[in-house]
Amino acid sequence: MTGSTPGSGALVELSGVGLEIAHPVRTRILQPTDLEIVAGESVAIVGPSGAGKTTLASIIGTLQSPSEGSYRFAGQEMVGKTRKELARFRAGQLGFVFQQAHLVEYRTARANVELGLTDPSLNRAGRRELSMEALRRVGLHRLGERLAAHLSGGEQQRVAIARALVKAPSLVIADEPTSALDQRTGQAILELLAGVGTLGATLVLVTHDERAMGTAGRVVTIVDGGIRP
Ligand SMILES: Nc1ncnc2c1ncn2[C@@H]1O[C@H](COP(=O)(O)OP(=O)(O)OP(=O)(O)O)[C@@H](O)[C@H]1O
Ligand SMILES: [Mg+2]
Repeated sequence: MTGSTPGSGALVELSGVGLEIAHPVRTRILQPTDLEIVAGESVAIVGPSGAGKTTLASIIGTLQSPSEGSYRFAGQEMVGKTRKELARFRAGQLGFVFQQAHLVEYRTARANVELGLTDPSLNRAGRRELSMEALRRVGLHRLGERLAAHLSGGEQQRVAIARALVKAPSLVIADEPTSALDQRTGQAILELLAGVGTLGATLVLVTHDERAMGTAGRVVTIVDGGIRP
């Protein structure tokens, strides 16, 4: 790849990545961390509340910059990139799913999924087709024209997953995507996310959900801001 240097070949490669906040008091949030994730892997990040799971996922998602260390994505250094470069990187390569679906309530399920498409060369018909295909993958193609406000919580979360998957991202980052749902709906969402690997994407899943550990290929446990060996 252009601009890359030979490395481990990992998609995500954190070397000594940590976060310390200087204000209002010096606080260490993430210990210097090494972590490699190869393409197609599914990694669950687990650990107690306040351990640093969201912080680690946010750094991997470039939503938060580390205060030290090196982060390479597909061989490219992310530390030192401008906000604009990072925004372009996220739009092109990453899909996010959060605890809440964060849909535009007065728009249809399909229109919400289309918001995940960032390729300006796509015409209207192309956007529509890709969005319906993503809704089909999450089992919601019949509800494409329904307003987001009129979907159940589990359906809304499926739309959020379709929105994250529609651009075929290389990495999907999901932070507690099932914690607002009942057990059964949560299980269905976990199974859906576990299937992203079959679409060629890599998954980082932050979860309190013990069942997710069964569907993940690898479990990384964070305690007190560091990966437990
Ligand atoms: N920008 C910040 N400034 C100060 N403290 C922060 C900041 N971001 C995170 N923290 C603190 O760092 C710790 C780790 O936060 P983080 O959100 O990563 O935890 P978590 O493991 O995701 O917890 P939970 O399971 O409750 O979501 C917490 O104590 C949090 O208050
Ligand atoms: Mg969190």
